[in-house]
Amino acid sequence: MPILPKLPATIAYGGDYNPEQWPESVWLEDMRLMREAGVNLVSLGIFSWAKVQPDEATYNFDWLDRVMDLLTQSGILVCLATVTASPPPWMSVKYPDVLPVDANGVTLYHGSRQHYSPSSPSYRRFAAQLVRKLAERYRNHPALAAWHVNNEYACHTSECHSASSTVTFRAWLRQKYGTIGNLNAAWGTAFWSQVYGDWDEILTPRRAPHDRNPTQQLDFKRFTSDAFLQLYQMEKAILNELTPGVPVTTNLVWFIRAIDARSWAPEMDFIAWDCYPDPLTGHAAEHFAAAGHDIMRSLKKNQPFMLIEQAPSAVTWRQINPPKPPGVMRLWSLQALARGADGVMFFQWRASISGAEKYITGMIGHGDPAQSRVFAEIKALGAELKKLSNLTGTVVHSRVAVVFDWQVCWAIELEAKPARIDYSGWTQELHRHFYERNIPVDFVHPDAELDQYDLVVAPALYLLRKQDAENLKLFVSCGGTLLATYFSGIVDENEQIVLGGYPGHLRELLGVRIEEWIPLGEGQTNSVRFTGNGAVTTSREWSEVVHLEGAKALAHYEDDFYAGSPALTENVFGKGKAFYLSTKLDELGLAEILKLVILRAGVVPVLETPTIASSFQGGT
Ligand code: GLA
Ligand code: GLA
Repeated sequence: MPILPKLPATIAYGGDYNPEQWPESVWLEDMRLMREAGVNLVSLGIFSWAKVQPDEATYNFDWLDRVMDLLTQSGILVCLATVTASPPPWMSVKYPDVLPVDANGVTLYHGSRQHYSPSSPSYRRFAAQLVRKLAERYRNHPALAAWHVNNEYACHTSECHSASSTVTFRAWLRQKYGTIGNLNAAWGTAFWSQVYGDWDEILTPRRAPHDRNPTQQLDFKRFTSDAFLQLYQMEKAILNELTPGVPVTTNLVWFIRAIDARSWAPEMDFIAWDCYPDPLTGHAAEHFAAAGHDIMRSLKKNQPFMLIEQAPSAVTWRQINPPKPPGVMRLWSLQALARGADGVMFFQWRASISGAEKYITGMIGHGDPAQSRVFAEIKALGAELKKLSNLTGTVVHSRVAVVFDWQVCWAIELEAKPARIDYSGWTQELHRHFYERNIPVDFVHPDAELDQYDLVVAPALYLLRKQDAENLKLFVSCGGTLLATYFSGIVDENEQIVLGGYPGHLRELLGVRIEEWIPLGEGQTNSVRFTGNGAVTTSREWSEVVHLEGAKALAHYEDDFYAGSPALTENVFGKGKAFYLSTKLDELGLAEILKLVILRAGVVPVLETPTIASSFQGGT
């Protein structure tokens, strides 16, 4: 199934199109240049709310009609925005409940974008009205190929503590817990005299004198992701009613913590994401993109995704924003295709002359396109993608899964831990070893069906439900190979310790008991010796006092009071094997361990040759 039924067997190519920033004479030039570049799809109207609805009673679609018609005449399809990403100033002035409030009680005002609370009744009412009007107007328009709902949910406003959010949070909790007693038990409110007598006493986790209740914070994160999802669903329901069969999506950013993309995926007709690797970081940027593509592709199995935004060259929101060197934009576009994308789109078509993003490179820049290096590359890529249309619909098959769970990310990053653990960094570090060996990887949740995989790597599964531990056990007992790492199985879904010895529900599977955690300071290391070949490697960041309960030690710590404690273990469980790595090792040590589990699992690279060096010369 093509992700866009109106664009079968063609790679979608184009970008965000913001014609409201330009006089109509420029639109005609846009059409000519889009044709020249091979553009076949634009994301239209994402930030046009003020133009479409200049005041509460007035809707102005005439200009949008003309743009839609022009695009149709030019043979270009539209991923039409629902235009709800940035409410016009009149709305927040007249209906201040629209505005979000941060944890300090500070209101975020209009004058930028995304200044809305997901729980604001006024915002929801106006958004619903607008989406209905848009869908009624363009439902039969030949250019309409898909809907782009809102924009990068929670990218800037990642949570809201307004009065409406507080009320909605209470309702969400009531729905979840039923009784205040259940909530008190789950939140462990006996601690620090936090016991609630009534729902109305509960607040969003606002600024407080000291560390706030972790379960309250975790539930608030869940609530926030749900609140944004409900907004999306509200728009989607209207679109499905009026334009059945037209795909609906939104642009995700996987590292935006506020959205649990996994719970969003079933609501998205195809996955779309915004990928902005930092050209300054060289090969690390390429791996960042690879990991992001793999995470996003894995949200919908056996279905292509869309790279819906990338930079034609430079952005402006990092400290230093160099351009992509010649050839790199092409390279990174082809990388997305190779990892399962069926669309290569940019932010944005034409670089703005005003506003906060005028130094972000457009497909068309501020000068003559005929003299632009970037536009020459855009045209060349457009022509090249036409020749690659047979790639559409192809999917990636992986025998390796890396467990990644947004809930773990939320829980592990809460304050008051033995050390700060960079969960997503650790996940990406493990993924990188497969990336460099040309071994395809899916990202999965711990409750995923795992029988199609030979090897599962589960970094720092700090928060783990009992049933998810059972799922991992089933995988190993049926012959699978598991590599779990330090600080796993520690808390349940309420962020409460699983008693009886760490790593909780994983203890039997891994055949170990962890007695103590020893976080290592900056620059502090411990030597680790492999039992088999006697090789010595270095552990960093974290180590543990490990006791064997059936597992075999494959490597030991050599220094400190826990010298002799196993650093790496192997446990036979049913027909499979579960490995446990209680530390972070240096590059070579980690590579050795991954080689071991890859061999044991019998996984082979898709390309036997070493990773082909990219033409990208930047960075380290
Ligand atoms: C202080 C407080 C205690 C406890 C400890 C933890 O001493 O008085 O209640 O929080 O810190 O280190
Ligand atoms: C994000 C947004 C776009 C734009 C770009 C700029 O991806 O979705 O609207 O702001 O960043 O890099």
